[in-house]
Amino acid sequence: MPYRRTTLSKFIIEDQRRTATPEPGLTSLLNDIQTACKLIAVAASRGAVAVVGGVQTQVNVQGEQQKPLDVIANDIMVGTCEWGGQLAGMVSEEMDQPYDIPALYPRGRYLLVFDPLDGSSNIDVNMPVGTIFSVLRCPEGVSEPTLEDFLQPGTAQVAAGYAIYGPTAMMVLTLGAGVHGFTLDPEIGAFTLTHPGMTIPTETREFAVNVSNERFWEPPVRRYVDECIEGAAGPRGADFNMRWIASMVAEVHRILVRGGLFMYPRDTKDITKPGRLRLMYEANPMAMIMEQAGGAASTGRRRILEIAPEGIHQRVPVILGSRTEVERLVRYHAEYDAGTDAPFTTPLFNARSLFRTA
Ligand code: AHG
Ligand code: MN
Ligand code: MN
Repeated sequence: MPYRRTTLSKFIIEDQRRTATPEPGLTSLLNDIQTACKLIAVAASRGAVAVVGGVQTQVNVQGEQQKPLDVIANDIMVGTCEWGGQLAGMVSEEMDQPYDIPALYPRGRYLLVFDPLDGSSNIDVNMPVGTIFSVLRCPEGVSEPTLEDFLQPGTAQVAAGYAIYGPTAMMVLTLGAGVHGFTLDPEIGAFTLTHPGMTIPTETREFAVNVSNERFWEPPVRRYVDECIEGAAGPRGADFNMRWIASMVAEVHRILVRGGLFMYPRDTKDITKPGRLRLMYEANPMAMIMEQAGGAASTGRRRILEIAPEGIHQRVPVILGSRTEVERLVRYHAEYDAGTDAPFTTPLFNARSLFRTA
């Protein structure tokens, strides 16, 4: 029944109708966010055909060189979401400080936190990228939020989601009651409900981690990956598959569709950074989606959603995906911290290691 399909706009309105305490402003804000994601999808799809001359890029607060599309996506998010009267402020990966809503626009009761373009190292090689967002409430009585007003744990998120710009553009959203996926129908320019009630298989035989960092990992992470690679002959008794797309959005999307484990764990590559990914606009929204889809998200030592943020650009270790695998990694961390993990002695990772040549 093509005329009866559920667009994202319709889905949000109907969801709010069912809620005991509807928030009309949230409907309006999510509408602006989906418009921004459509604009970014178009910008990303044009690739080298687009004329991007004149875009000023710099080294961002993360210490990373921006790509033109990082800047364009950030401008789109800001410009599309600032005017509607629903936001009191924004935080972005690409902006050092919180963004103040210009005085000419009314202020609203929400805070928007986002990574405008995730996986931007994939842009030059035409691989999937995405946008990640998290919606928080502005503290009661505050109309001009300061940085501290943004420092809320992930459990306080009102909504979270991402858009993925792959062969098709999709938007995946949680409003705190399940996870739903919408595919952009380019013919009518509308995200359309195609993946209602997404759930993650509890167990998996697929993991995603940047193995080039193996020498910097903590022992519990090495133990987990070593055991996976040992396959059917090892303690897991099964062969595992590995993927690494270098785009968190793409890895999370794969896990939502077919299960798996993704991690960017704590490492010692740069001891000033306790992880690669950022808590407020990468880890928290994805952790909410994981939990809402029946999965889990942890640093290895604590639930991501319960971390009290200390900074808007704070980094954290991230382990997320199928519940039993995340729980196994949490157990390995606990055993390591308690000194009760048996020294791991697989021939694959000692003298004849794939990764150690000595
Ligand atoms: P961003 O492009 O927003 O900086 O995020 C990239 C992140 C994440 O998407 C991905 O999981 C990870 O960085 C990739 O890291 P490596 O380059 O170390 O593989
Ligand atoms: Mn990112
Ligand atoms: Mn980014």
